Amino acid sequence: APVVVAIDGPSGSGKSTVSRAVAARLGLSFLDTGAMYRAMTWWMLANDVDVDDADAVAIACTKPVIVSGTDADGPTITVDGQDVSGPIRGPEVTAKVSAVAAVPAVRSRLVELQRGCAEVAERGIVAEGRDMGSVVFPTATVKVFLTASEAARTERRAAELRAKGLDEATITAMAADLARRDAADSSRETAPLTQAPDAVLVDTSTLTLEQVIDRITGLVEE
Ligand code: ADP
Ligand code: CDP
Repeated sequence: APVVVAIDGPSGSGKSTVSRAVAARLGLSFLDTGAMYRAMTWWMLANDVDVDDADAVAIACTKPVIVSGTDADGPTITVDGQDVSGPIRGPEVTAKVSAVAAVPAVRSRLVELQRGCAEVAERGIVAEGRDMGSVVFPTATVKVFLTASEAARTERRAAELRAKGLDEATITAMAADLARRDAADSSRETAPLTQAPDAVLVDTSTLTLEQVIDRITGLVEE
């Protein structure tokens, strides 16, 4: 059977960077499921859906056509054919994505798309998110729960924003938002962020990216 590597963890633990590198190294496909929740949220905001109204979100969520390109060398995400890879990282989407992701109808629709991506992946897939090991791929070949201290995760995001030239007020707001989003993702009723019982815990607080990538590649090759 094709390999499925399931990587979960809170914001800034290194999921995207590490998963993409592991996929590229092993010749596997790569799926950023957070980008799908962000794309759904972007569409809701663009179409004036009240994202704090769960019923409205549940009704609207069947409408957008969300397509994820799973090439580890250049992942893509489109909504109704439009490239949204830029806007989905903006503060408006980031502020609302946890509310949209808490709606069960949104999750069941995106989970189905995610399983479809794994089915068509030729050699296998590295999928990262919040519920890869716990819900979407319960029989994954390898499950990893990536974590890092909140301080380390906040500092990594801050460094990223500083490199982009953003001001300190924006960076401080981002730090508060990261903590708020982790709390929301961990406490929601449907598929809360949690370590699957058979997932390997990797705390990246004091590891370099290279060390984390080596460790996970090693788990897959075992
Ligand atoms: P996530 O997908 O879990 O939110 P990212 O992969 O986006 O996390 O990583 C957030 C930031 O932290 C990126 O700028 C990344 O380069 C950096 N980073 C990730 N893991 C490490 C690590 N072990 N050491 C140093 N920096 C890291
Ligand atoms: O990269 P970052 O940690 O900032 O976020 P992300 O991985 O892009 O995910 C954005 C949001 O989508 C998360 O805060 C969750 O609310 C939601 N999400 C989810 O519920 N389930 C997933 N499998 C992936 C993301």
